[in-house]
Amino acid sequence: MTNSACGENAVDSDLSAYAFDDDQKAITIKKFDLPSPWINYLSNGNLHAFVSQAAGGFLWWQDAMKGKLTRYRMHNLPIDSPGFYIYIRHKDGTVWSPSFRPVVQPLDGWSATHKPGTTEFYAKKGDFEATLKLFITPDYNALVWNLDIQNNSPADEDVDVFAYVELSQYNFLDEVAYGYYWRHMLKTWFDKESDTLFYLYHYQKPENAEKVPLVFFASTHTVQSYSGDRDAFVGNYRDERDPVAIANGRCGNEEILSGEPCAALHCSVSCKQGEHARISFFLGVQPGVLTDYQLAKIKIQQTIQELRKEEIIAAQHEKLKAWWDNILGKFECAIPDASAQRQINIWSPVNCVQVSRYERGVSTIAAGFREIGFRDTCQDMVAMAYRDADLATAKFLMLLSLQESAGNAMPRCGPRPAKKPDLEINSDHHLWLPFLAYAVIAETGDSSVLDEIVPYAPDGTQGPPKQASVWEHLLAAMRFTADNLGSNGLPLTLKGDWNDIIGKFSEQGRGESVFAAQQYVCALNYLIEIADYAGKKDDAGWLTQLRDEQIENILACAWNGKWWYRCFDDEGTAIGGEESEFGKIWINSQTWAVISGVGSREQHEAAMKAANHYLSTDVGLMKLYPGFKTWPDVTHPFSGYNPGNGENGAIFCHSNTWAIIAETMLGNAEQAWKYYNQLVPHNALQKMGLEKYKSEPYAWASNIVGVENPKHGWSNVVHITGTAAWMDIAATQYLLGIRARLDGLEIDPCIPGWERFSVKRNYRGCLLLIDVVNPSKVSKGVRFVEVDGKRFDGGAIPSTALVANSTVNIKVVMG
Ligand code: GLC
Repeated sequence: MTNSACGENAVDSDLSAYAFDDDQKAITIKKFDLPSPWINYLSNGNLHAFVSQAAGGFLWWQDAMKGKLTRYRMHNLPIDSPGFYIYIRHKDGTVWSPSFRPVVQPLDGWSATHKPGTTEFYAKKGDFEATLKLFITPDYNALVWNLDIQNNSPADEDVDVFAYVELSQYNFLDEVAYGYYWRHMLKTWFDKESDTLFYLYHYQKPENAEKVPLVFFASTHTVQSYSGDRDAFVGNYRDERDPVAIANGRCGNEEILSGEPCAALHCSVSCKQGEHARISFFLGVQPGVLTDYQLAKIKIQQTIQELRKEEIIAAQHEKLKAWWDNILGKFECAIPDASAQRQINIWSPVNCVQVSRYERGVSTIAAGFREIGFRDTCQDMVAMAYRDADLATAKFLMLLSLQESAGNAMPRCGPRPAKKPDLEINSDHHLWLPFLAYAVIAETGDSSVLDEIVPYAPDGTQGPPKQASVWEHLLAAMRFTADNLGSNGLPLTLKGDWNDIIGKFSEQGRGESVFAAQQYVCALNYLIEIADYAGKKDDAGWLTQLRDEQIENILACAWNGKWWYRCFDDEGTAIGGEESEFGKIWINSQTWAVISGVGSREQHEAAMKAANHYLSTDVGLMKLYPGFKTWPDVTHPFSGYNPGNGENGAIFCHSNTWAIIAETMLGNAEQAWKYYNQLVPHNALQKMGLEKYKSEPYAWASNIVGVENPKHGWSNVVHITGTAAWMDIAATQYLLGIRARLDGLEIDPCIPGWERFSVKRNYRGCLLLIDVVNPSKVSKGVRFVEVDGKRFDGGAIPSTALVANSTVNIKVVMG
């Protein structure tokens, strides 16, 4: 174990606090008292948990807000508690935990290892060693705790093992608001026949009674004592570090009909000298208890019987691993940059999967309250389309069913009466739909999805909701923007664009957004290409006209002579020029000028250089500079965020992804890789120092506090961020340049003069083994490719040359 690290920049202890093992797809954490919890998500798609290096975390069933099974107190002291706790108690009264927490007694060795879907703790105490492995089984709704104890002492010993979790009233907000009444509507009881502790919270009017879960906790070993009563287990004015039950060496066999519930099991494990012993615990759920209790109980008994078989647990763990190997195996690169390779192959896709499950909602600081965000899911799924096209297609159709018939979409997905465009509507949500449509069709090659009929969101009127084909939905989105242009002919900002706060300049509804305009051009470009591919040529004409008009409008008003303005306010004043005191330059309108292709090469180069000049910090580009003053200095500030935070000048990592893409489009490989590498969490942490950066060196952050704030370098809102998807897109499609197109594959890397690299990539069911050679060490440009020996000039390969085979070898010659 290392001591706390401190200081301006990385010090030795930052490097020794953790180590990656890329072959094992693992990170091992060697310092338990990190500046923040470093978590891993465990899941089978229905039952979910996260767990930190100190075993802090919680378990939930389907929905973290409504199905919270165990407690975790956000913003709590001690931080990162409670969690999934094991106590090992020896006959001499010594107590220790393999996860260090909760006992917090010195250990003789300790580490925590996160792998996709599994977390493993190791601890040594005197002559004993223990490993605790936590994972959720794919086929049973149970969190498995596998505890192995190795006895290296000269004698046999029967050791007491306690497993403990604090239970929750399922509905998080209700519990916070009314838990003091509703704690009389729950019960814990022990079933002797199956040696299982049960927990049920049965608020008097449960929604969806058939879904209400019964929680169970069981072991492979005979239960010696148990407790379902947190306060009895812990004791008066004690806490999980030193519960009275552990001090006594047994629980009081409490069952409760009211109060604060817990599940604690106590078993005796016979540890033979020189041998290791295994005990497992299973914390799981079975829905349907309110509609058929007997059936739910029978199912639980069957589940526990199965889980008590070691070979079933082993097979379940293999199955989980295979699931992850399949997802991560969709894209694997071998490049001469270990940090970037690790992030691209392992942790970035892990993060994309988490985001596809938890969106922006669940982490150590997020209770699960945020509903699905329309634009967020749209973007997340663009990155998931090549790993799981079915998932991306299903979410695409789900989003379309939440689009309003006027073409726009609301930020949070949920029904809302139809209205004329008003300030509740954003200019951008619907504009992301063509990005996802393109990604889905490019990955499947199947444009028939465009003809599927999908309802629009209910509009509050009687009768069934309007419906239309997917293609009509996409066209409606374009019409909405075309019908809502401002006096410069750019999209009205309305409530905001991708930037949640930008609507501040548009409170009267007259402001216009340059970024939304650039995004609109991209969206139209995608649809024009789709129209051509899918034989919808009638629409290609007017879409092209809209696109060309929009380009003209942008060029006429958005260039300030040195870079691009960000928006126009209600009075028509341009925001984002040298004359502005705050927010002189904003990153998104510079990067999206390049991405949308609007403007000249000179303008693009100049704007990206200006962005680099004004916005670069030691770890990334700030969203804008200088940050706006807030209260009490001004009475009507741009944002409540202090300068350097959030939308007001943080290093917004999501925005940095677009700078990476823009630089690759300009062929500036050094700059593009610099922008990528400096934000790779491991690199950023090492640069800023552990005590400043604080968060996981493997998960993308939403933002890092900017230079105008004393906490500069603190990485924030980790895991649950749109950064994950776009970093994956930036790396795989633009830096390494492997892009699915509607009619085939485009290979167009932008690399810092490497001599070669290789990629394995799944494309429409065909495994591509891509070997890129770069004899003249250029940074961009493909001379030709050979597909199983067949030559194509340039980097474009028609899909027909690929999909008939299960594997193809592609040689790419740059130059
Ligand atoms: C957050 C929001 C996202 C928004 C972004 C920029 O990440 O989740 O919807 O686009 O901030 O404001």
